[in-house]
Amino acid sequence: MKMHPRKPIALIAALDEENAIGRNGDLLCYLPNDLKHFKQITQGHRVIMGRRTYESLPKGALPNRTNIVITSDHAENYPGCIVVRSLEEAFNHCLEDETAFVIGGGMLYRATLPLAERLYITRIHHTFPDADTFFPEITATAWETTTKEHHAADEKHPFPYTFITYAKRG
Ligand SMILES: NC(=O)c1ccc[n+]([C@@H]2O[C@H](COP(=O)([O-])OP(=O)(O)OC[C@H]3O[C@@H](n4cnc5c(N)ncnc54)[C@H](OP(=O)(O)O)[C@@H]3O)[C@@H](O)[C@H]2O)c1
Repeated sequence: MKMHPRKPIALIAALDEENAIGRNGDLLCYLPNDLKHFKQITQGHRVIMGRRTYESLPKGALPNRTNIVITSDHAENYPGCIVVRSLEEAFNHCLEDETAFVIGGGMLYRATLPLAERLYITRIHHTFPDADTFFPEITATAWETTTKEHHAADEKHPFPYTFITYAKRG
């Protein structure tokens, strides 16, 4: 597949201790601060997602962002979105001087991790035994931790979590 390495791509995801990201088509847990963090980082940008992730969004297309959905399905089922059939086509809708964010799910993360420049990971300090969807391995040889911000559990957050950013080495 021909790719566009000059288009800057970042991945953003919430992972448990075993790299799990979802179960039964939904997120693993509800962490309001993580949703705020996600909004802050992606606001105003292009977001690229797989069809199943679109289906998991409670209100459809995310406001104040250009939503790009990859699917073989009909475009009219994805109101407010740019609908594309391949990653290459998704990158055609991205810019060379602005980061586009891959927001899931597992299939999309696996396909785009090798193309990404930065990762915005929320590490949830818990293991969900019934998870069925996973993020690929983030190796220390390929990725350098650039920032880390730890948050304790509280009445609104059942698990502690850490916001971690990574930059691609080399
Ligand atoms: N924790 C997190 O941060 C996070 C973030 C996002 C999602 N999630 C979770 O992840 C799960 C969904 O992930 P998933 O892996 O099942 O599905 P997904 O990646 O969201 O969507 C998969 C679908 O997208 C299309 N697709 C994906 N890659 C493609 C490619 N390279 N070329 C063409 N089409 C492609 C296909 O759609 P068609 O079948 O329609 O052709 C495919 O069936 C849910 O549980 C969701 O809640 C978690």
